[in-house]
Amino acid sequence: MQTEIALTDNELNTRETVNRAVALLRGGDVVALPTETVYGLAADALNPTAVAKIFEAKERPHFDPLIVHLPNKTMLRDVAEVPAEIAKTVIQLVETFWPGPLTLLLPKKPVIPDLVTAGLPTVAVRQCEHPIFHRILKHFGGPVAAPSANRFGALSPTSAALVFDQLDGRIPLIVDGGACARGLESTIVRILPGTPKPIIEVLRPGPITEDDLKKFGKVVFVKRNEAVESAAPEAPGMLAKHYAPRTPLRLLESPRDFSPDPGKRYALLSYRGEEKDGFLDLHDWAEVAVMSPGSGRVAEAGIRLFHLIGQLDKGGFDEIIAEPVPDRGVGKAILDKLRKASV
Ligand code: TXA
Ligand code: MG
Repeated sequence: MQTEIALTDNELNTRETVNRAVALLRGGDVVALPTETVYGLAADALNPTAVAKIFEAKERPHFDPLIVHLPNKTMLRDVAEVPAEIAKTVIQLVETFWPGPLTLLLPKKPVIPDLVTAGLPTVAVRQCEHPIFHRILKHFGGPVAAPSANRFGALSPTSAALVFDQLDGRIPLIVDGGACARGLESTIVRILPGTPKPIIEVLRPGPITEDDLKKFGKVVFVKRNEAVESAAPEAPGMLAKHYAPRTPLRLLESPRDFSPDPGKRYALLSYRGEEKDGFLDLHDWAEVAVMSPGSGRVAEAGIRLFHLIGQLDKGGFDEIIAEPVPDRGVGKAILDKLRKASV
């Protein structure tokens, strides 16, 4: 199969690209689309044959469920139940963060095929903020299932070129909507009733942070349990091993943890490229990539993370050494990705 990249950099080509993408979705095919987080591989969420093509192209195991993306907020009740005891919080979160990088886990309605949710009684839903994605969904008129557009276990792509690297020959079309503004996958939460406040369980940290969520409930980060995962992941989004580049990557807690093997070539993935952080002068690095040069802002580091790991992965190094970032805000999501990428 020939994989084409369709542009959206002026109104004429955008119109044509949107029409092609919608035609593919209507025809039960897959298409890679830009979102504000990472590129997604989309198919008609209500068509199991179309959804099966996502699993096939990604080589994704069927136990790993997909996120359903809605063209508008009102469609939430068509695909998911909103239990009365958490309805107020769900509505507040949707009104505050949609369209945007927040995914909610809710009981699914029967219209969503079991293939989408991997047989789970819940469905993960969000409304994406990217203008091209939004336009395509509005024309299409229904929900699409869309996981990140990478091969299973590999890095999530933050540009059309990175999708092409992974899925060339496996899908008909990649819609190029530019580099992703957030660079990290959506925050996934589950809401539980609680007194005096509802509980917001963060199953996957992401661009919507604890600070953003805490006015709506008590925020709890769910720790991964590898014993449970290796058997049958109850919440497969929490698989411990994920995002692995081909080059081994190791996240260090402190510069003291590094003892290089002579003769090996190491690249450093630095947070802000500052000598005072103790990593830059630690070794004669074969290459240094900086996530947030100068200022050290975690949001910027998040945007550049997957792109830089992807670049370093092409450099033929023996190992990529990653500096830790602050464990706050989007930094929590970055640390989560680096831990999952670590050997
Ligand atoms: O930002 C994003 O969320 C991107 C863009 C494309 O929207 N999508 C994305 O999808 O990251 P994916 O499939 O790569 O990650 C979704 C995660 C998966 O790890 C999956 O296991 C988990 O969400 N998930 C989906 N439905 C679930 C469910 N019903 N229960 C538990 N986990 C679920
Ligand atoms: Mg993914």
